[in-house]
Amino acid sequence: MKELMITTSSCAREEIPDLGNRYLTGNGYMGVRGTLEEYGRDQLVAVNLAGIYDRFGTGWREPLNAPNPFALRFLSGGEPLTLPEAAADAHRQTLDVRRALHSRETRFENGVCLHIERFSHMEQVHLLCLQATVTAQSAATFTLEAAIDGDVWDIHGPHYREMALDTQDELLTALGTTNEGDQVAVCAGYTLDLAHTRRDRTDARKRIAAFAFQLRAGETATFTLTAAVYTSRDTQSPADAARRAAQAAPAYATLRTQHIRCWEKLWERANIEIDGDETAEQALNYSAYHLLSVAPRHAESLSVPARGLSGQTYKGAIFWDTEMFMLDFYLAILPEVAKATLRYRIDTLPGARVKAEQYGLRGAFYAWESQEGGYDACSDYNVTDVFTQRPMRTYFRDKQIHITAAVVYGLWKYARWTGDDSLWREGGAEVLVEAARFYHSLLVRRVESDIDELRDVIGPDEYHERVNNNAYTNEMARFVFEQSVEVTTRMARQAPDDFEALERKLRFKTEIPRFTEAACSLKRQAPDAKGVMEQFDGYFALEDATVAQVRARLIDPREYWGGAYGVAAQTQVIKQADVITLLFMLRDRYTADTLRANYEYYLPRTEHGSSLSACMYALAACAIGKPDEAYPLFLGSAQADLNGGGKQWAGLVYIGGTHPAAAGGAYMALLWGFLGIQPDADGIRISPRLPKGWQGVACQVVYRGQVVQLACGTLADGHQGTAF
Ligand code: BGC
Repeated sequence: MKELMITTSSCAREEIPDLGNRYLTGNGYMGVRGTLEEYGRDQLVAVNLAGIYDRFGTGWREPLNAPNPFALRFLSGGEPLTLPEAAADAHRQTLDVRRALHSRETRFENGVCLHIERFSHMEQVHLLCLQATVTAQSAATFTLEAAIDGDVWDIHGPHYREMALDTQDELLTALGTTNEGDQVAVCAGYTLDLAHTRRDRTDARKRIAAFAFQLRAGETATFTLTAAVYTSRDTQSPADAARRAAQAAPAYATLRTQHIRCWEKLWERANIEIDGDETAEQALNYSAYHLLSVAPRHAESLSVPARGLSGQTYKGAIFWDTEMFMLDFYLAILPEVAKATLRYRIDTLPGARVKAEQYGLRGAFYAWESQEGGYDACSDYNVTDVFTQRPMRTYFRDKQIHITAAVVYGLWKYARWTGDDSLWREGGAEVLVEAARFYHSLLVRRVESDIDELRDVIGPDEYHERVNNNAYTNEMARFVFEQSVEVTTRMARQAPDDFEALERKLRFKTEIPRFTEAACSLKRQAPDAKGVMEQFDGYFALEDATVAQVRARLIDPREYWGGAYGVAAQTQVIKQADVITLLFMLRDRYTADTLRANYEYYLPRTEHGSSLSACMYALAACAIGKPDEAYPLFLGSAQADLNGGGKQWAGLVYIGGTHPAAAGGAYMALLWGFLGIQPDADGIRISPRLPKGWQGVACQVVYRGQVVQLACGTLADGHQGTAF
């Protein structure tokens, strides 16, 4: 396996948000932004926690950032050695992607060299570990202040109404209590390895562990820190748990070995080789790194937020991104994680029922931005008008009804890929029936018509709000109707007891014929004479302007393109793949000609204003035999976090973060696009369609409980893909 190091020598202020994302380390329980140890809230430092949220006042409900135990300040002769203020001769920040180690090395002008390595322990997910060495060229006196920084960065905070800092047995503890009454505890223990150390007593008043020491010329001091993070969602007394874990933690070297071993195992499965294209190989493995870093391996029922664990953007919520864009990676690499994300949906069914009821509907209307319990964090005013600074009414929460179908599609993909039907029986079938009920309760039919419609919706393309019969939404709803019939009929045959239990609970038998009928009567956007499917009723009648023309109409570059007055709303310019997403997801139902016609029509009309867009076009391009056209679209997805540079701010609100769905989409493009996998009951066949320059591809997936080698070209070792 090839090494993969990401490095930068920049600590320029304007790059700090981007670097925070690019150098992120995480373990599914928490994500630590790739910021330097001397940074604070203004530099967007975050130890972002999975699955725990808080609301302050009437602000947006957000995930919590824990107090930061990596807050270190070195002073030499009383002068702080902190970037970017202190003069440095050399500085380098590195992410060792294979070992998930973050490090920085800074040589200050005064001859002091600081090297700090840290990681989010991949096996013991409550632990954060750090080792710093400081070397002086000439004799010098030092102070090292180690704090647990409770002054955390919040977007809509403050989320802690109380932050208690305490010292006990040489350990420092920060215990935050949130507005909603949750507790987050971080406890850190320290060692300083140097013959003539003087350790100032840990001082609760100063809220730091302070060390004073002297170094002779050429001498090195080594400092280690192990911190444990627990919340009231993990245990009743998080402070005790954190203290116990920090006390029991072995030496840094041991923790490091365990952590690396864990990553080695993950890479044995997840590594991707591409002979002939190092750029693509690195970008794909870097994408895999992010997906592994945010995978909830520790949990049975937890999902992955749209911005991973990189902060509070998008309220740390779960979107359709997980099922439609990330799930394929988890199914192939960590099927247990795939299951945990779907269990999360099963467990949040009560929330989806409540939401449906709120809208006067039946069944399950899943949250557009789902937090714990299925609570929908999506605000009615998700965008601020740049001209008036007033909140704009958006309808994502009310009208993106396709979210419920995404949940069903995820459950279906799980069963199909793993061959394991258990999720249907363990609550999945209940989700499915409730999903069918939901769409059924939304159907409208004109008095003189025999066609059912889904009116007043938003499809994946968010720039066109409140449209009728969005092709994607209608076909995914039809899919739900069909699945509800198929899965429950099979259940009645194969697991009659489970079926009867479900019937007793839901009393749905009599509805099955209605679902069957709805699957036929729901309006289809049939391809026109040229084979193009209309994205929604009336779309073709909109102004056919180019993306460049529409962009040129912006008065302010930060203007919102959608909504009532957005520049794209009255045109055919779309935010992201919509019909094309449908044609990929339900690919068995459409011909290559239909795909080609729609790809050619919609690609030039797509702004790619979402990182979920390009990968879908890459998949379509491969399927119609244009891998070279697919390549830049694929690479854009794979490099979304490596290159950064995406939108970081919307006015004063930070909207940056990592893009796990783009990473997952790039992986899908590799598997379903370039390798052309065709999984079936006998195994996986591949029909590679490689872009120029690719000599061979090799990777592994777990399919139906077995590890399958997928390889072609120069890496095929004499076989064209391995089946079982
Ligand atoms: C996209 C959605 C996506 C969300 C989170 C939005 O910009 O339009 O499709 O789910 O971002 O990634």
